[in-house]
Amino acid sequence: MASRSGFSSRIGFIAAAAGSAVGLGNIWRFPYETGSNGGGAFLFIYLICTLIIGFPLIVGEIAVGRRAQANPYGSYNLLGGKRWALVGLFGVLCGIMILSFYNVVAGWAFGHFMSTAFGDLLNKPSFDGHFGEYASTIGSNLLVSLAFMGLTAFIVMRGVQKGIEAASKLLMPFLFVILLGLIVYGLTLDGAMKGVEYYLVPDFSKINLGTVFSAMGQAFFSLSLGMGALITYGSYFSKKDNIVTSAAIVTVVDVSVAFLAGLLILPLVFSQGLEPGAGPGLVFEALPGVFQSMGPMVGRVIGGLFFLLLCVAALTSTVSLLEVPVAYLVDERKWKRGPVVIGLAALIFLVGLPTMYSFGGGDFFTNFLQYYNAGANGPELVDKSFYDIIDDIFSNIGLPLGGFLLSIFIATKWKTSNLSDEITSGFENYKGSIAEKFINLMITVICPLVLFLIVLSTILLKFFGVALI
Ligand code: PFF
Repeated sequence: MASRSGFSSRIGFIAAAAGSAVGLGNIWRFPYETGSNGGGAFLFIYLICTLIIGFPLIVGEIAVGRRAQANPYGSYNLLGGKRWALVGLFGVLCGIMILSFYNVVAGWAFGHFMSTAFGDLLNKPSFDGHFGEYASTIGSNLLVSLAFMGLTAFIVMRGVQKGIEAASKLLMPFLFVILLGLIVYGLTLDGAMKGVEYYLVPDFSKINLGTVFSAMGQAFFSLSLGMGALITYGSYFSKKDNIVTSAAIVTVVDVSVAFLAGLLILPLVFSQGLEPGAGPGLVFEALPGVFQSMGPMVGRVIGGLFFLLLCVAALTSTVSLLEVPVAYLVDERKWKRGPVVIGLAALIFLVGLPTMYSFGGGDFFTNFLQYYNAGANGPELVDKSFYDIIDDIFSNIGLPLGGFLLSIFIATKWKTSNLSDEITSGFENYKGSIAEKFINLMITVICPLVLFLIVLSTILLKFFGVALI
């Protein structure tokens, strides 16, 4: 990919962008965030965040990338100058840090695939405490996450069309099918309906500031938004194609998979008497027991297939995460793609090690720091692991901050007239349309305002224990 070869077709772009969006964020992070933040009320706020903040900013990111034809740093630099380029650089840093923990979780998915399909995971007499045991066994974790990083590096090395696009197009549709099948099965289990109720009937008394912060962080994380991944993909997007409809499709696909994952996991959690607020281990606690209940052979096949698809969903996301810093170094420094990919993959793997020790594997990283959470009666000081900190700083604060800066950039520097010009290429009647009015209003007024408030109050609350609102 010496030149910007681009995606071979609009479908290719959509598959790759949806592949980036759909990942562990939908199937692993969304259910546990929903379970930790009160169920239906969280779902409701997450949907609003996605529609009014997420969708317009996806359009904005893709348009910036397609206009500039460059990585996030290069794009901001070209359209806004040296100082704005720092925003792009911050995005590159967020990508590196998010991938560092994402790869650890992808390793868990890979490990569960191996031990479900080929090992004896489903023979365990009980899955009580399964996740804690699994995540704290560092030796096997090292192996699976190294393997996953290797796979990611291999695909990124092959370049956009051959690697990213081909993998996404082939494997994404399978995910939908298996999710649907499992939901139907899960809903027949005893007690599942309590989970459905918890998930779909919002209890608005459960909403506090923390719910809103987490929902916004989740929306950005899930849409791969706020760190320039979509600027990078936008730079490979054809001038003939319609940015708005493509962004809409990506958003709908992403939200649908998250919604379905919630509809799968939460009923399972309730049917097995698990605690919905269990945190990052939730999915890995809830699923093995259900696969076991299907009987040894069927459980092995269905469970294996599920974890395999989870790995695939994760892989199309890790690929896009790694592509961001790679594109930066290849474009800006003119370094060779091969060594850059290998060097970055090794570095990010190492940066991920403290995360691997954050789930019981080492006390130092498991109880790393204390800071605040929004509790029912105001800020509460709680223990945080190294993973919690990286996730809070780079996903829950960094990505909305990136989105805030993008909206300010478009509103004050690049200007909505340029945004509209760029979108018009591929969408002839865009100017004057309702879509244009909506997108401009959101990007120039609502996004900056809401995101400023969210970012500021998250920082004040988490690190200073001050509740702003
Ligand atoms: N959107 C991915 C997920 O939901 O799993 C995670 C992600 C990928 C975030 C790429 C950011 C990114 F640039």
